[in-house]
Amino acid sequence: MRKPFIIANWKMNKDVHESMRFVEAIKNKLPVDQEIGIAPQAVSLYNMKLTAGNSNLQIIAQNASAQADGPYTGEISLRTLVDAGATYVMLGHLERRRLFNESNLVINEKVLAALDAGITPIICTDEEMVQTEINGEIHYVFQQLKTVLNGVSPDQLKDIVISYEPSWAVGSKHTANPDIAEAGCRQIRQSLADSYNYDVADQVRILYGGSVNPQNIQEIMAKPNVDGALIGRASLDVNNFLQMINYQQQAQLQAAQAI
Ligand code: 13P
Repeated sequence: MRKPFIIANWKMNKDVHESMRFVEAIKNKLPVDQEIGIAPQAVSLYNMKLTAGNSNLQIIAQNASAQADGPYTGEISLRTLVDAGATYVMLGHLERRRLFNESNLVINEKVLAALDAGITPIICTDEEMVQTEINGEIHYVFQQLKTVLNGVSPDQLKDIVISYEPSWAVGSKHTANPDIAEAGCRQIRQSLADSYNYDVADQVRILYGGSVNPQNIQEIMAKPNVDGALIGRASLDVNNFLQMINYQQQAQLQAAQAI
């Protein structure tokens, strides 16, 4: 069973104290049957971890260096992120690729370094794919993902999280479309099954990201191949975020009211 995973990607928003207050406000309201995480600016990680205490809120890094240590001014090492309490690291987000020219090769180095450092990568990929035919069926190859996963064993892949974030839906005015979310996540799973095997592909959690909000999260999460959501703008407001992480209770409430 793939455990649903809902993540707030705060990007370059919220200072240290705002981040700690947010954790304080949600840490006792987390759903038990899902994993919930927040990816703040790196300087807030350690204090957020302390604030989260024994709750099972995951504190997530937005980026890391592939280098272990040394003369890399301005970079942050994976070892330091682990020490600060981060359990996952996002790698290859669209904004890192677009604004900071991160290539698939660099992201691949980071993925391998993260696995070595004992921190789980959340690999972001967009809709770039190539159609191909296998045994008369249309299959898709996600080129970015193929390069980024080079050297990753099937056993390592099982724990890696992948997010499908179509570039036109990230930070845009588009409404997220649950059918497109499902189609992208399904095609990524099938592409993993083609390059690894079905059993492994079936265990990987694939999240959707791009214009998720309290109004559309239920329908997106109901899709069979969508195992979670990576949420930008709508995750910055504490009440919105609480509503989204508790989407199952909201759905039950609405069903009960409809009777
Ligand atoms: P928005 O939810 O603001 O579209 O951002 C999505 C995103 O970038 C998640 O990583």
